[in-house]
Amino acid sequence: MELLKRVIEEKGTVLSDQVLKTDSFLNHAIDPRLMDAIGADFARYFADQGITKVITIESGGIAPAYSAALHLGVPLVFVKKAHPVTMTSPLTARVHSFTKNREYELCVEQSLIDPGDRLLFIDDFLANGDAFKGICSLADQAQASLAGAGICVEKAWQNGHALITGLGIPLNVLASIQSMSQDDGIMWASPVSDAISRG
Ligand code: G4P
Repeated sequence: MELLKRVIEEKGTVLSDQVLKTDSFLNHAIDPRLMDAIGADFARYFADQGITKVITIESGGIAPAYSAALHLGVPLVFVKKAHPVTMTSPLTARVHSFTKNREYELCVEQSLIDPGDRLLFIDDFLANGDAFKGICSLADQAQASLAGAGICVEKAWQNGHALITGLGIPLNVLASIQSMSQDDGIMWASPVSDAISRG
């Protein structure tokens, strides 16, 4: 998505060859017009996939997921990383974050995912796909299926992309970073959507 790449080039900061700061428009401050365009792009891409619900993980995934759900006309569920006392029947999955080097537990109220739901997973960043694996586990427990994955920014040298496409799940990545460094900036990967099996 050319708009997202342009905003990243103008407003993002390469902190290291592993981490891109996007706080001013994606996952701390949020640019509503950019989110609207991102949601519209995901909704166009997954229009024929029979999506019944969008699912994401708090907090960085919520804005693009909300926009995608609005454009698709389906509900959004965001999975929590802490277990609130109000959650009576949680489904849980343990996740290891490579980027943050820590373990955390995903939890979602069982009644919010229906058996047979066709879920579209949306997230801000894709690295090794560990969060995605956790979402797959929650979907399995709820007897729902993952019908697609929409990612704003992927780090193409990590394993997440191959993990998702290897499962035959349609994947739409809006901005794929081949490599980055503080000296040379961002090198974009060639468009990935061409290589996608749309199931
Ligand atoms: P994975 O699921 O693909 O394996 O990814 P990993 O756990 O390694 O990292 C996911 C978390 O790290 C996400 O935040 C994601 O937004 C963030 N992240 C990963 N790489 C970058 C990066 O280069 N820049 C920025 N800004 N964030 C990155 P999270 O743990 O879910 O927390 P939250 O911030 O969304 O609450």
